[in-house]
Amino acid sequence: MNEQLLMKTASDMVKKGKGILAADESTPTIGKRFSQIAVESTFESRNEYRDMLFTADKMEEYISGVIMYDETLRQSTTSNDKTPFTKLLSDKNVLPGIKVDTGAKNLAGAPNEKITEGLDGLRERLVEYYEMGARFAKWRAVITIGDSIPSDHCIVANAHGLARYASLCQESNIVPIVEPEILMDGEHNIDTCYEVTNKTLDCVFDVLKLHNVMLEGIVLKPNMVISGMECDQQANVDTVSEMTVNALKENVPSEVPGIAFLSGGQSSDDATLHLNSMNKNNVSLPWNLTFSYGRALQADALIGWGGENREKGQEAFLNRAKNNGLASMGML
Ligand code: 13P
Repeated sequence: MNEQLLMKTASDMVKKGKGILAADESTPTIGKRFSQIAVESTFESRNEYRDMLFTADKMEEYISGVIMYDETLRQSTTSNDKTPFTKLLSDKNVLPGIKVDTGAKNLAGAPNEKITEGLDGLRERLVEYYEMGARFAKWRAVITIGDSIPSDHCIVANAHGLARYASLCQESNIVPIVEPEILMDGEHNIDTCYEVTNKTLDCVFDVLKLHNVMLEGIVLKPNMVISGMECDQQANVDTVSEMTVNALKENVPSEVPGIAFLSGGQSSDDATLHLNSMNKNNVSLPWNLTFSYGRALQADALIGWGGENREKGQEAFLNRAKNNGLASMGML
């Protein structure tokens, strides 16, 4: 394990003014996104869509890394030169990343709760991914808020999965993005989200330490502390920003170089405003706060592209990337 390399990669991922594009939708998930714009999901259309995003002019000014799905990591540009995406990105100083979990499945003994799978064979897959150019990885654990859940069983089992994944990544000199996502679905209020986020982060860092994960060589990807989607009272931007930073201060050790939020179903505007407020109101935090958005970076771009209009798709993507880059410095 090369500690210096891991630390450098992790700090490059969360450099001020930049964040991560999560373009690692699995084939079924990108299929759902394409069906919303009436585009058929094929190997070629997925390649073309990712090409549109990755070749957007000067995207590297705002994007430090791109998370890809296995299929995408093996794809190339659609122009005549057929440059592998990993080379295209590295040549622009954008770090190639790879989603390595195999999805959230039902957790035995815990009705309505999920456990993320993908540990079997992970060591060998990571070696191959590093050789292909991947320098960081992602594993998403899913915690659901509902009647009497999350259970301790679910939180502990998912923290264990995240820690085993993270130490395997570091063994292969790949920086693990540690993503414990508390879902926004539900009627719960922001206080409940705060409690569950606190408890989950506390457990995740306990287990990461138990597994000897080097905290200087990870990036945390949490949810923001936010009202449930069906809650009558939606907390305002300042409240989300303050409660999120409080949960992080309570639980995230200062060795962690950076925190890159998921958007999780927030509107694209909300995701940007929340990040901006956190950075504007907190100038001396121990970690950089930035974005690792999927939907909040791509929703406009998908509509603009619509299966054929590359220029419109790229314009929409760059606009969101630029605003989130500014938000990562509290400059909006
Ligand atoms: P969203 O920003 O759409 O939540 O996606 C981020 C991600 O990578 C989820 O795992």
